[in-house]
Amino acid sequence: MSKQRSILAPSILAADHADLASGVAQIDALALEWVHIDIMDGHFVPNYSFGPETVRALRSRTKLFFDVHLMLDNPHDYVEPFARAGADLISIHVEPVYDIAGTLARIRESGCKTGVVLNPATPAEAALPFLSIVDLVLVMTVQPGFGGQAFREEMLPKIRDLDTARRERALDFRLEVDGGIDLGTAARCAAAGADTFVCGTSFFRAKNQAEFAAAISAL
Ligand code: DX5
Ligand code: ZN
Repeated sequence: MSKQRSILAPSILAADHADLASGVAQIDALALEWVHIDIMDGHFVPNYSFGPETVRALRSRTKLFFDVHLMLDNPHDYVEPFARAGADLISIHVEPVYDIAGTLARIRESGCKTGVVLNPATPAEAALPFLSIVDLVLVMTVQPGFGGQAFREEMLPKIRDLDTARRERALDFRLEVDGGIDLGTAARCAAAGADTFVCGTSFFRAKNQAEFAAAISAL
Protein backbone atom coordinates (compact mmCIF):
# COMPACT_ATOMS: atom_id res chain seq x y z
CA MET A 1 0.00 0.00 0.00
CA SER A 2 1.02 3.58 -0.63
CA LYS A 3 2.69 5.49 2.16
CA GLN A 4 1.06 8.77 1.12
CA ARG A 5 -1.55 10.05 3.57
CA SER A 6 -5.14 9.92 2.32
CA ILE A 7 -6.66 13.07 0.88
CA LEU A 8 -10.36 13.64 0.26
CA ALA A 9 -11.05 15.92 -2.71
CA PRO A 10 -14.78 16.70 -2.75
CA SER A 11 -16.00 17.32 -6.30
CA ILE A 12 -17.75 20.67 -6.58
CA LEU A 13 -19.66 19.27 -9.59
CA ALA A 14 -22.04 17.68 -7.07
CA ALA A 15 -22.67 20.94 -5.19
CA ASP A 16 -25.51 23.38 -5.92
CA HIS A 17 -24.35 25.14 -9.12
CA ALA A 18 -26.40 28.22 -8.19
CA ASP A 19 -24.45 28.46 -4.94
CA LEU A 20 -20.95 27.09 -5.49
CA ALA A 21 -19.58 29.41 -2.80
CA SER A 22 -21.52 27.51 -0.17
CA GLY A 23 -20.16 24.27 -1.66
CA VAL A 24 -16.57 25.36 -1.02
CA ALA A 25 -17.62 26.75 2.37
CA GLN A 26 -18.84 23.27 3.36
CA ILE A 27 -15.41 21.88 2.49
CA ASP A 28 -13.60 24.69 4.33
CA ALA A 29 -15.78 24.18 7.40
CA LEU A 30 -14.32 20.69 7.77
CA ALA A 31 -10.75 21.99 7.45
CA LEU A 32 -10.19 19.81 4.39
CA GLU A 33 -7.40 20.80 2.01
CA TRP A 34 -8.53 19.98 -1.53
CA VAL A 35 -11.48 20.64 -3.82
CA HIS A 36 -11.80 18.81 -7.16
CA ILE A 37 -13.06 21.00 -10.01
CA ASP A 38 -14.30 19.24 -13.18
CA ILE A 39 -13.97 21.17 -16.44
CA MET A 40 -16.01 19.74 -19.38
CA ASP A 41 -16.18 20.97 -22.95
CA GLY A 42 -19.20 19.16 -24.45
CA HIS A 43 -16.85 17.35 -26.88
CA PHE A 44 -14.39 15.19 -24.98
CA VAL A 45 -17.31 14.41 -22.69
CA PRO A 46 -21.01 14.92 -23.48
CA ASN A 47 -21.57 17.57 -20.83
CA TYR A 48 -20.55 21.10 -19.84
CA SER A 49 -19.55 22.34 -16.42
CA PHE A 50 -17.32 25.27 -15.45
CA GLY A 51 -14.89 27.64 -17.15
CA PRO A 52 -11.93 29.72 -15.97
CA GLU A 53 -14.22 32.47 -14.69
CA THR A 54 -15.88 30.04 -12.29
CA VAL A 55 -12.47 28.97 -11.01
CA ARG A 56 -11.43 32.62 -10.60
CA ALA A 57 -14.62 33.43 -8.71
CA LEU A 58 -14.15 30.48 -6.36
CA ARG A 59 -10.48 31.43 -5.85
CA SER A 60 -11.62 34.64 -4.20
CA ARG A 61 -13.66 32.64 -1.66
CA THR A 62 -11.24 29.98 -0.43
CA LYS A 63 -7.63 28.96 0.03
CA LEU A 64 -8.42 25.30 -0.73
CA PHE A 65 -6.02 23.46 -3.06
CA PHE A 66 -7.70 23.56 -6.49
CA ASP A 67 -7.42 20.13 -8.15
CA VAL A 68 -8.57 21.02 -11.68
CA HIS A 69 -9.53 18.07 -13.91
CA LEU A 70 -9.65 19.13 -17.57
CA MET A 71 -11.99 16.99 -19.68
CA LEU A 72 -11.24 18.78 -22.95
CA ASP A 73 -10.35 17.82 -26.51
CA ASN A 74 -7.74 20.61 -26.52
CA PRO A 75 -6.34 20.87 -22.98
CA HIS A 76 -3.14 22.46 -24.35
CA ASP A 77 -5.16 25.57 -25.24
CA TYR A 78 -6.43 26.05 -21.69
CA VAL A 79 -3.42 25.62 -19.40
CA GLU A 80 -2.72 29.32 -18.93
CA PRO A 81 -6.36 30.43 -18.52
CA PHE A 82 -6.92 27.90 -15.72
CA ALA A 83 -3.52 28.56 -14.13
CA ARG A 84 -4.19 32.32 -14.10
CA ALA A 85 -7.65 31.66 -12.67
CA GLY A 86 -6.11 30.02 -9.62
CA ALA A 87 -5.64 26.28 -10.29
CA ASP A 88 -3.07 24.60 -8.03
CA LEU A 89 -2.93 21.33 -9.97
CA ILE A 90 -4.07 20.75 -13.54
CA SER A 91 -4.64 17.21 -14.75
CA ILE A 92 -4.98 16.37 -18.44
CA HIS A 93 -6.33 13.28 -20.19
CA VAL A 94 -4.00 11.13 -22.30
CA GLU A 95 -6.69 10.12 -24.85
CA PRO A 96 -6.82 13.17 -27.19
CA VAL A 97 -3.93 13.52 -29.65
CA TYR A 98 -1.69 16.43 -28.61
CA ASP A 99 1.74 17.04 -27.09
CA ILE A 100 1.12 15.64 -23.61
CA ALA A 101 4.69 16.03 -22.28
CA GLY A 102 4.88 19.57 -23.65
CA THR A 103 1.55 20.45 -22.07
CA LEU A 104 2.69 19.02 -18.71
CA ALA A 105 5.80 21.20 -18.98
CA ARG A 106 3.63 24.26 -19.58
CA ILE A 107 1.45 23.40 -16.60
CA ARG A 108 4.57 23.29 -14.44
CA GLU A 109 5.96 26.52 -15.95
CA SER A 110 2.67 28.19 -15.13
CA GLY A 111 3.28 27.39 -11.46
CA CYS A 112 0.87 24.46 -11.08
CA LYS A 113 1.35 20.84 -10.14
CA THR A 114 0.71 18.32 -12.92
CA GLY A 115 -1.49 15.29 -13.45
CA VAL A 116 -2.41 12.80 -16.14
CA VAL A 117 -5.82 11.11 -16.35
CA LEU A 118 -6.83 7.72 -17.74
CA ASN A 119 -10.34 6.89 -18.94
CA PRO A 120 -11.69 3.46 -17.97
CA ALA A 121 -10.81 2.00 -21.40
CA THR A 122 -7.25 3.39 -21.31
CA PRO A 123 -4.63 0.96 -19.95
CA ALA A 124 -2.13 1.82 -17.22
CA GLU A 125 0.64 1.63 -19.84
CA ALA A 126 -0.56 4.93 -21.32
CA ALA A 127 0.55 6.71 -18.14
CA LEU A 128 3.97 5.06 -17.86
CA PRO A 129 5.90 7.60 -20.00
CA PHE A 130 4.75 10.41 -17.72
CA LEU A 131 5.09 8.88 -14.25
CA SER A 132 8.40 10.55 -13.48
CA ILE A 133 7.20 14.02 -14.51
CA VAL A 134 3.77 14.22 -12.83
CA ASP A 135 2.57 14.95 -9.31
CA LEU A 136 -0.61 12.93 -9.73
CA VAL A 137 -2.11 10.12 -11.80
CA LEU A 138 -5.90 10.05 -11.91
CA VAL A 139 -7.63 6.77 -12.67
CA MET A 140 -11.22 7.37 -13.79
CA THR A 141 -13.43 4.79 -12.13
CA VAL A 142 -16.43 5.80 -14.28
CA GLN A 143 -16.69 7.10 -17.83
CA PRO A 144 -16.18 10.85 -17.28
CA GLY A 145 -18.93 13.37 -17.93
CA PHE A 146 -21.43 12.97 -15.15
CA GLY A 147 -21.52 12.57 -11.40
CA GLY A 148 -23.52 9.88 -9.65
CA GLN A 149 -22.43 6.87 -11.73
CA ALA A 150 -21.58 3.40 -10.43
CA PHE A 151 -17.95 2.56 -9.59
CA ARG A 152 -16.24 0.17 -12.02
CA GLU A 153 -14.64 -2.64 -10.03
CA GLU A 154 -12.55 -3.64 -13.04
CA MET A 155 -10.43 -0.50 -12.52
CA LEU A 156 -8.85 -1.98 -9.36
CA PRO A 157 -6.09 -3.91 -11.20
CA LYS A 158 -5.12 -0.71 -13.04
CA ILE A 159 -4.77 1.11 -9.71
CA ARG A 160 -2.65 -1.78 -8.41
CA ASP A 161 -0.43 -1.71 -11.51
CA LEU A 162 0.19 2.02 -11.19
CA ASP A 163 0.94 1.69 -7.46
CA THR A 164 3.39 -1.11 -8.26
CA ALA A 165 5.09 1.04 -10.91
CA ARG A 166 5.29 3.87 -8.39
CA ARG A 167 7.01 1.70 -5.80
CA GLU A 168 9.32 0.00 -8.30
CA ARG A 169 10.51 3.37 -9.56
CA ALA A 170 10.53 4.97 -6.09
CA LEU A 171 8.27 7.79 -7.31
CA ASP A 172 5.93 9.82 -5.14
CA PHE A 173 3.07 10.96 -7.38
CA ARG A 174 -0.39 10.83 -5.86
CA LEU A 175 -2.71 8.12 -7.13
CA GLU A 176 -6.22 9.55 -7.37
CA VAL A 177 -9.53 7.87 -8.14
CA ASP A 178 -12.62 9.64 -9.45
CA GLY A 179 -16.15 8.35 -10.04
CA GLY A 180 -18.52 6.39 -7.83
CA ILE A 181 -16.23 6.76 -4.81
CA ASP A 182 -17.94 6.21 -1.46
CA LEU A 183 -16.61 4.73 1.79
CA GLY A 184 -16.80 1.17 0.47
CA THR A 185 -15.25 1.76 -2.94
CA ALA A 186 -12.65 4.14 -1.45
CA ALA A 187 -11.50 1.39 0.90
CA ARG A 188 -11.08 -1.03 -2.00
CA CYS A 189 -9.18 1.59 -4.01
CA ALA A 190 -6.98 2.34 -0.97
CA ALA A 191 -6.17 -1.35 -0.64
CA ALA A 192 -5.12 -1.26 -4.31
CA GLY A 193 -2.84 1.73 -3.66
CA ALA A 194 -4.97 4.86 -4.21
CA ASP A 195 -4.37 7.73 -1.77
CA THR A 196 -6.49 10.58 -3.16
CA PHE A 197 -10.27 10.24 -3.34
CA VAL A 198 -12.58 12.41 -5.43
CA CYS A 199 -16.05 12.28 -3.92
CA GLY A 200 -18.95 14.14 -5.49
CA THR A 201 -22.31 12.62 -4.67
CA SER A 202 -21.06 10.71 -1.61
CA PHE A 203 -19.65 13.87 0.02
CA PHE A 204 -22.31 16.42 -0.85
CA ARG A 205 -25.19 14.04 -0.05
CA ALA A 206 -23.58 12.63 3.10
CA LYS A 207 -25.83 12.84 6.18
CA ASN A 208 -22.76 13.72 8.22
CA GLN A 209 -19.97 15.24 6.12
CA ALA A 210 -17.55 15.43 9.06
CA GLU A 211 -17.88 11.70 9.76
CA PHE A 212 -17.53 10.93 6.06
CA ALA A 213 -14.37 13.06 5.81
CA ALA A 214 -12.88 11.45 8.92
CA ALA A 215 -13.52 7.96 7.53
CA ILE A 216 -11.77 8.81 4.24
CA SER A 217 -8.81 10.37 6.07
CA ALA A 218 -8.45 7.19 8.13
CA LEU A 219 -8.00 4.98 5.05
C1 DX5 B 1 -16.97 12.70 -13.60
C2 DX5 B 1 -16.15 13.68 -12.82
C3 DX5 B 1 -16.17 13.42 -11.38
C4 DX5 B 1 -17.52 13.52 -10.72
C5 DX5 B 1 -17.58 12.41 -9.71
O1 DX5 B 1 -16.84 12.99 -14.95
O2 DX5 B 1 -14.79 13.64 -13.26
O3 DX5 B 1 -15.21 14.23 -10.70
O4 DX5 B 1 -17.73 14.74 -10.07
O5 DX5 B 1 -18.86 12.36 -9.18
P1 DX5 B 1 -19.34 11.16 -8.24
O6 DX5 B 1 -18.44 11.15 -7.04
O7 DX5 B 1 -20.74 11.52 -7.90
O8 DX5 B 1 -19.23 9.89 -9.02
ZN1 ZN C 1 -13.18 14.69 -12.03
